[in-house]
Amino acid sequence: MPDNLTVIVLAAGGGTRMRSKTMKVLHEIGGRSMIGHVLTTVQAVAPSRVVAVVGHQREQVGPHIQGLLPDVVLAVQEEQRGTGHAVRVAVEAAGVADGTVVVANGDTPLLEAESLRAFAAEHEAAQRAVSILSGVVPDPFGYGRIVRDAEGEVEGIVEEKDATPEQREIAEVNSGILAFDAAFLAEALPRLSNDNAKGEYYLTDLVGLAREAGLTVGAWAIDDVAQTAGANDRAQLAELGRELNQRTVTRWMREGVTVMDPATTWIDADVVLEPDVTILPGTQLLGATVVAEDAVIGPDTTLKDCEVGPGARVVRTHGELAVVGPEATVGPFAYLRPGTRLGAAGKVGTFVETKNADIGEGAKVPHLSYVGDAEIGEGTNIGAGTIFANYDGVRKHRTVVGRHARTGSNNTFVAPVEIGDGAGTAGGTVVRRDVPPGALAVSSGPQRNLEEWAQRRRAGTAQAEAAEAASGGRTAGEREPSHQADPGVGQAPTGGAES
Ligand code: UD1
Ligand code: CA
Repeated sequence: MPDNLTVIVLAAGGGTRMRSKTMKVLHEIGGRSMIGHVLTTVQAVAPSRVVAVVGHQREQVGPHIQGLLPDVVLAVQEEQRGTGHAVRVAVEAAGVADGTVVVANGDTPLLEAESLRAFAAEHEAAQRAVSILSGVVPDPFGYGRIVRDAEGEVEGIVEEKDATPEQREIAEVNSGILAFDAAFLAEALPRLSNDNAKGEYYLTDLVGLAREAGLTVGAWAIDDVAQTAGANDRAQLAELGRELNQRTVTRWMREGVTVMDPATTWIDADVVLEPDVTILPGTQLLGATVVAEDAVIGPDTTLKDCEVGPGARVVRTHGELAVVGPEATVGPFAYLRPGTRLGAAGKVGTFVETKNADIGEGAKVPHLSYVGDAEIGEGTNIGAGTIFANYDGVRKHRTVVGRHARTGSNNTFVAPVEIGDGAGTAGGTVVRRDVPPGALAVSSGPQRNLEEWAQRRRAGTAQAEAAEAASGGRTAGEREPSHQADPGVGQAPTGGAES
């Protein structure tokens, strides 16, 4: 790579066709802003300097760019007077005087580092004043056309609005990515005129100026023209998003990931997958999600910024900022909220919501539960329908359940509360006080059966008839009601659901 390379990224234009309060280059595909993709590509080429030209909504765009690339030079173009003017502002802001300058646009998210590197290297090797990254496209409308002379040498670039009907037939277009000898660029920029159809200072006019000065110019045509595609409106944004996703999914399949249905699988640019991961249809892996080998994700699962361990199984789940341990299982129909950490071989089952929850190795929350602000020890089983009541209306509190505990169904744990190692709770328990290790907590009163209640209080209904039939045709009053005071010795008190 050239050792004195400056990359100028243009991002001052309005992008009105987005019809958005968000600046065009900040619109996202694949989990990153368009300019974020461009800056990632630029960074991979390791230039000596990156200058970004901002103008429209620069109070949004400037900080976004600085957040991604802290040592960027921001150049402010107050008025959008054309690409030539924008580059002049950049060159003056950064004091660029020698080496190579590459100009890129902030809205070409598919551009790959390898292409940019090859283009800059070829430009330097050919010792040109100006090189154009060009492409042959089926519909050149709107682009600057590459005009060549009888020998096929590049003569200049003519913009759509300034082109003759014959020139408009030319299918080789300017991608907007250009490379310059910095000394020529700095000298020639002030000589640009705005005497053209748009009344703008065209950067592309530098090609003609170089030719007039007897300097070498040339075009380097890229085969994969999609890499130079920009998005001007939201329909094009979606198209580029789909194209980017297709490329990302294909890349992961080549790396050893099984994807059953690429068309319904969405993988963000920063996601990392190990070989032998399997992704089932309708799955979105977003943000900084990482999935380890042999894990199976989906169908119909969305994971954002999650970490999934080897061999884990995540089915019909929505997860965000959650960690799923090795061999653990999640879903179907689970909601893992931020701060969830599920231990190795642990389980978060069906209709379970978790948040700020540390669920230990082999611990299970199989059914219909909310686990918030909690710690559950290894090997513990939480009964079906358990609510960790963490909120007293003002503050959140923590619940700690020890190791190998067995809690009953339909429990409420009113935080802050602790359930000790090996402790248990009966079905329907509301745990308000700590349960010591090994103890069984029972909070519901003894069960009373009011005999023949249906026959007496619901006489004449289907319910009463069924009860009568079951008790040999006796109607109300033929036997005195008795009150059973004790559930009976030997009856399992926990009523826990385990699986
Ligand atoms: C430009 C090229 C054209 C090329 C096309 C590729 C010129 C004169 N024309 O045309 O040959 O085929 O890109 O997409 O360069 N910008 C600024 N400040 C300005 C004007 C533009 O920062 O004053 C930025 C825009 O935000 C955008 C880029 O420069 O990122 C290109 O500008 P745009 O107006 O879209 O140029 P095109 O007419 O598309
Ligand atoms: Ca454009």
